[in-house]
Amino acid sequence: MAEETHNAAVVARTDLHDSLSILRVGPTGGELPRFEPGQFSNLGLLDGASEPRLLRRAFSIASPAAERRWFEFYIQRVDQGAFTTRLWQLAPGDGLWLDPLVYGHFTLADVPPDSDVLFVATGTGVGPFLSMLREYHGQGRWRSAAVVHSARTRADLGYHGELEALALRDPAFRYVPTLTREPESSAWGGLRVRLQKLFLPDRFREVFGRELTPERAKVFICGNPEMIVQLSEQLAGSGFRPHRRKTPGQIHTERYW
Ligand SMILES: Cc1cc2nc3c(=O)[nH]c(=O)nc-3n(C[C@H](O)[C@H](O)[C@H](O)COP(=O)(O)OP(=O)(O)OC[C@H]3O[C@@H](n4cnc5c(N)ncnc54)[C@H](O)[C@@H]3O)c2cc1C
Ligand SMILES: NC(=O)c1ccc[n+]([C@@H]2O[C@H](COP(=O)([O-])OP(=O)(O)OC[C@H]3O[C@@H](n4cnc5c(N)ncnc54)[C@H](OP(=O)(O)O)[C@@H]3O)[C@@H](O)[C@H]2O)c1
Repeated sequence: MAEETHNAAVVARTDLHDSLSILRVGPTGGELPRFEPGQFSNLGLLDGASEPRLLRRAFSIASPAAERRWFEFYIQRVDQGAFTTRLWQLAPGDGLWLDPLVYGHFTLADVPPDSDVLFVATGTGVGPFLSMLREYHGQGRWRSAAVVHSARTRADLGYHGELEALALRDPAFRYVPTLTREPESSAWGGLRVRLQKLFLPDRFREVFGRELTPERAKVFICGNPEMIVQLSEQLAGSGFRPHRRKTPGQIHTERYW
């Protein structure tokens, strides 16, 4: 039972603030499963005193596939959330369950290398894109790549430094963060709009210096489900279609709830 429920431990925990963390989880015996950037795993914690059961939740892997010591996860604590409020009690060294399997098709598997890839995220939805960028950056996996990341405030904008640094050294990579609830009085000089606005044809041309067309662009959208529906509908107006294995399109999505 112990091995089935405590096969991993928190290796490191970086709190961005009291409800947002980057967690590294490594196996306490055996190896991490192999995965493709964009996939997710499950974390589990024992729940209930009299009849304990494993409470599990899915989390996208933010570390590159080459990292074999731990999986990194970028996690938002949900107020009154059954799992994340418990997860928040863990410190480095504490045990938990890590699914021995990985899951999901939110990967670059069907994306040809001459694509302009747009990674679009709200909140912790940027996690799987960190895995892709860390793994594939500089290897000709795309013609160009961009991250459009919407967060409420500057404090909620995880990985800002890493993405900014990547954009500075790579002309084929753009980083476009936007903050929607940052106080007007703050020092933030960047965008302050909901991200759909950036995909209106005129605004897109202004920000990215090219047309928004489905011929070469592939759009990966992750995070808030309402945003995913709204942006997908908007992109449909520019000729973009959902990607399915049997009916290839340009929109790939991963809903967090
Ligand atoms: C494929 C997949 C990958 C995921 N990857 C991540 C990840 O990398 N990082 C991450 O923070 N979460 C991720 N999630 C969400 C995660 O699985 C949990 O749902 C989340 O942590 C909340 O669990 P909880 O038990 O604390 O909340 P619950 O008690 O289960 O309550 C969930 C409710 O909280 C609300 N909610 C608000 N914000 C969120 C949010 N960010 N995620 C989920 N629900 C939210 C929704 O209304 C939802 O119905 C992923 C989900 C899926 C399906
Ligand atoms: N306790 C805290 O301090 C605190 C802080 C942050 C979050 N939380 C909790 O964490 C949960 C998740 O919060 P989160 O900030 O990670 O996720 P979120 O509510 O999905 O917001 C993340 C970003 O997505 C944007 N967004 C939301 N819906 C959208 C839509 N339909 N279209 C386009 N953009 C959209 C938000 O803009 P808008 O701002 O315009 O909605 C914000 O910029 C919340 O339920 C909340 O309870 C708590």
